[in-house]
Amino acid sequence: MEVKFNHVTLTYPNGVEVLHDMDFDITDGQLVALLGPSGGGKSTTLNLISGLLSATSGNIYFGDKDVTKQDALGRGVGMVFQNYALYPHMTVLDNIIFPMKMAKVDKSTRKQRALELAQLVRVSDQINKKPSDLSGGQQQRVAIARALAKSPNILLLDEPLSNLDARLRVEMREEIRRIQKETGVTTVFVTHDQSEAMHVADKIMLLNDGRIQQYDAPQSLYENPNNQFVANFIGEPALNVVPADQFDDEVRQLFDGDVATIGIRAEALTNEVKAPAIKMQAVVHEVLSFGRDRQAAISVGSHQLVATEVTTAAPLEQETTLFAALSGVYAFDQSGQRLPLRGDHA
Ligand SMILES: Nc1ncnc2c1ncn2[C@@H]1O[C@H](COP(=O)(O)OP(=O)(O)OP(=O)(O)O)[C@@H](O)[C@H]1O
Ligand SMILES: [Mg+2]
Repeated sequence: MEVKFNHVTLTYPNGVEVLHDMDFDITDGQLVALLGPSGGGKSTTLNLISGLLSATSGNIYFGDKDVTKQDALGRGVGMVFQNYALYPHMTVLDNIIFPMKMAKVDKSTRKQRALELAQLVRVSDQINKKPSDLSGGQQQRVAIARALAKSPNILLLDEPLSNLDARLRVEMREEIRRIQKETGVTTVFVTHDQSEAMHVADKIMLLNDGRIQQYDAPQSLYENPNNQFVANFIGEPALNVVPADQFDDEVRQLFDGDVATIGIRAEALTNEVKAPAIKMQAVVHEVLSFGRDRQAAISVGSHQLVATEVTTAAPLEQETTLFAALSGVYAFDQSGQRLPLRGDHA
């Protein structure tokens, strides 16, 4: 089901407007990640899609239908929250069956469907257990199966993996991706973990202070950020940010507009010539290895930078020339807006 927000705002009862002019489309069958820092407006946006909150102004459409005034039940959404909230006294199978029982689906059909869903989320061998006898990942699978039981128009997941350990998180995000592909259900997935969003989503909506910073394919957010906030939020290690006065005029003049800061991706900085690149004078302090990752501590003037592609061949503690590949160099104006390369208005 396609979802459309038309100039939606939300003001909480305390009078504070927390979402401003949200205008976007979610394509039918896609998985969209709502990403951003705490308080950015992710849960509020999700709850507007679900109908648990109603918009203060603007309109929300599911396909051609205006659902702005419809409640959660009428919208036919499936939801999974951070704390799985399975019914503790029911077996796994009964948990999955429950929403269909409420919807008065006949007995044999609902059992059949529950067994299929258990298979989809791979808990078929757990169906007679109580939730307390399952691992966190298994409980989360059951919660997804339960949310899918009524064949929802849209599946909404609010930080569904945040209670899981690092390895299980990675495994479960792949599982959510697989289940979403197999069912084709339009899915909105809230996370504050940029790497999680990059791995699961067809598109990422990055929110800050109740505004969309960028809504794009994951790789576009990384390669072509709209502004300094996006460039900073996406990618690990975080973007290096250096005031423009640390660079020659030549570098500043590569960009159209009044350059206030230059951002350099940690992976763009090298001690080996790579064209096209900008040159900079820097001091390499140390180069450390962490498994397959390498990290060099560098300074440019009084600014500390992190680089992942500076090798141990770089001389330490003396002024040296480093190169930053242009594809990983961004310029921003005073307000943090990205400035294009001169003659590059794509
Ligand atoms: N019931 C409420 N009444 C008033 N303000 C609220 C209410 N719920 C949330 N807010 C405010 O709305 C803003 C957005 O909150 P929201 O819960 O959508 O953020 P979030 O991106 O989901 O954050 P988190 O990652 O911490 O879950 C925050 O500034 C928050 O303080
Ligand atoms: Mg939240």
